[in-house]
Amino acid sequence: MRMYDLIEKKKRGMALSKEELVWLVKGLDGSIPDYQTAAFLMAVYFQGMEDAELADFTLAMAHSGEMADLSGIAGFKADKHSTGGVGDKTTLIAAPIAAACHVKVAKMSGRGLGFTGGTVDKLESIEGYRTELEKEEFFSVVNQCGMSLIGQSGNLAPADKKLYALRDVTATVDSIPLIAASIMSKKLASGSDGIVLDVKMGSGAFMKTERDAVCLAEKMIAIGNRAGKKMAALITNMDEPLGYCVGNVLEVKEAVRVLKGEGPADVRELSVELAAQMTALSGKSIEESRESAEKALRDGSAYRCFLDMVKRQGGDIKLLEDTERFPEAQYQFEFCADRSGYLSRMDTQKIGIVSALLGAGRTAKESSIDPLAGIVFDKKTGDAVKLGERIAVLHSSSCYGFEEAERLLREAVVIEKQKPEKKPLICRIIRL
Ligand code: URA
Repeated sequence: MRMYDLIEKKKRGMALSKEELVWLVKGLDGSIPDYQTAAFLMAVYFQGMEDAELADFTLAMAHSGEMADLSGIAGFKADKHSTGGVGDKTTLIAAPIAAACHVKVAKMSGRGLGFTGGTVDKLESIEGYRTELEKEEFFSVVNQCGMSLIGQSGNLAPADKKLYALRDVTATVDSIPLIAASIMSKKLASGSDGIVLDVKMGSGAFMKTERDAVCLAEKMIAIGNRAGKKMAALITNMDEPLGYCVGNVLEVKEAVRVLKGEGPADVRELSVELAAQMTALSGKSIEESRESAEKALRDGSAYRCFLDMVKRQGGDIKLLEDTERFPEAQYQFEFCADRSGYLSRMDTQKIGIVSALLGAGRTAKESSIDPLAGIVFDKKTGDAVKLGERIAVLHSSSCYGFEEAERLLREAVVIEKQKPEKKPLICRIIRL
């Protein structure tokens, strides 16, 4: 086979065969030059991929590295994936709720990159918590407390790493089939029986419109179904951060408040629905699953699952039992309204960038983060604000960067005379 011919075929809008795709993905080990792979990616960007072709491509990517075998864990294993948001701490809540509903959650999560946060960074902000476990210990934690949250192994879908790096420098990141293949290759390699996708749309998401978010969700569901996985997707609003807190320690504290039956309504609503969908994939009705999820939060069983897991993985649970014990950022800056009115819009991507500027995010994979940095909002969109009233507190361990952060946040948070219409958080649920 010649890469030239595959590029030519894709350029003309023809579907590649399974054999061709397997050959192509194998060639990402260095035998196909980057310039040809880049040309192929651009051809996919313009021509797209048929459903069967996309599934074959994704499976080949998944098989490029280790395929997790979770058969050592008893019961139905459910995973969840968010396409990336700001203030999204739902994994820390939905996973223990699902575990308390007798679904096993053996989850490999990623780190934050750019303006979005990552579960592994949040977990590592709990003193002592280990995100790298040997397989036997990982299985044992899941078998004993119903869940374990760890980092992705270095050998998970290496073809995706190669392709993502090339997409990043060839303006082909925002291709729906390439995003679907990238996400699903890692999910398929992670080995769960069912996957619930949280596809974000809006100003803080990859997908800016509902149409694109639904298209991405349907493509990922089709890939998962063809690979024999039970699938569901939520299309959710990312036109404002989820909850009030953005940043690692700040988000862990907010997640724990929700697990204790307090915390913001939006975080609670989405976490319960995600956990209910994960539970429903195991065969229960969605109504029964929602009831069980609500009950697991109410009776504290989800909170106890989370504590149990954190303890087994070395984390200091005293911090969770009394979240006031978490350290606080040395520098805090109040961000106040420069006029009266209603908080009408939030540019969530910019808010993510502000949080990263304060130290909560990273610009390159290897850069370190400040676990204490971030933003705590006092207001959400639709709230009335008075001139001079506090809207948020910016947290950082460094005294530098507040000026730039304030300038950007001023652009991101829009105050207008008119009270805005509040959009629903969960826009659609797709179960095919
Ligand atoms: N997340 C991924 O893992 N891959 C993409 O292409 C986009 C978001």
